[in-house]
Amino acid sequence: MIIVKLGGSVITDKSRLRTFRQETCERLAGELLAAKEGLVVVHGAGSFGHIEAKKHELHKGLKNEEQIEHVAKVQRDVRELNLKVIKTLIDGGIKAVSIPPAGAATFSACAVRSFDPDTFRSILDLGLTPVSFGDVVPDESMGFSICSGDLIMEALAKQFKPSLVVFCADVDGVFDSDPKDNKKARLIPRLDSSTLSKLKRTEPKRDDVTGSIYGKLERMLAIARNCEKCMIVNGNVPGRLEKAIRGQKVVSTVVLP
Ligand code: IPE
Repeated sequence: MIIVKLGGSVITDKSRLRTFRQETCERLAGELLAAKEGLVVVHGAGSFGHIEAKKHELHKGLKNEEQIEHVAKVQRDVRELNLKVIKTLIDGGIKAVSIPPAGAATFSACAVRSFDPDTFRSILDLGLTPVSFGDVVPDESMGFSICSGDLIMEALAKQFKPSLVVFCADVDGVFDSDPKDNKKARLIPRLDSSTLSKLKRTEPKRDDVTGSIYGKLERMLAIARNCEKCMIVNGNVPGRLEKAIRGQKVVSTVVLP
């Protein structure tokens, strides 16, 4: 099985509220056709989730009654994005079926408390492609919380032990410093926990409620322990996702357990 995350920074313009990148998503749908085994897609929320979630502090859980209305609104927005992704995937030849995270998992303290893989398994058995996404979810200890798509990726990897997990980001992989600030930043082709601990920590710049790249990398290390290969590729560069799926040499960071 192959699991692919389409990052919110690739399929949306993260700086402009609810802006979908239709053409990019169409191209990625075409690249996903290279998958010859069971495929699961997870996508991020991008500007359909992070901006409003941050504004109303939804990542901190239930603090006041005013937030409740925005739980509904952010849920609506990420479903709008999910429908756009599903439509684009189907038009591109991928038989996509939506599974919201709270349909398969329960959550507590921003973590997955229980995960039932049966819906994913049944959908895969029909030759369909389950598509899940980052969302606002009920949370047993916080009232509600934000479930990053990465959390669902981790739960899926633990259950299904996939052959390949690919994260499509808006950068070529992990660099030794921020490539957006430093032209001399070097790509780290293979990253493990000791490389990660030596990296200089920087704060996330944009409105992001699911943490910095370091949190994401910790999650990827956990995923790497449960799959044959886990990698980050640049989803904005045509052909990289396809090459990764085909097992060809590609500019990327491979995350090692
Ligand atoms: C975030 O999901 C979910 C919400 C903000 C509602 P992700 O963490 O997977 O989204 P991206 O990939 O960073 O946009």
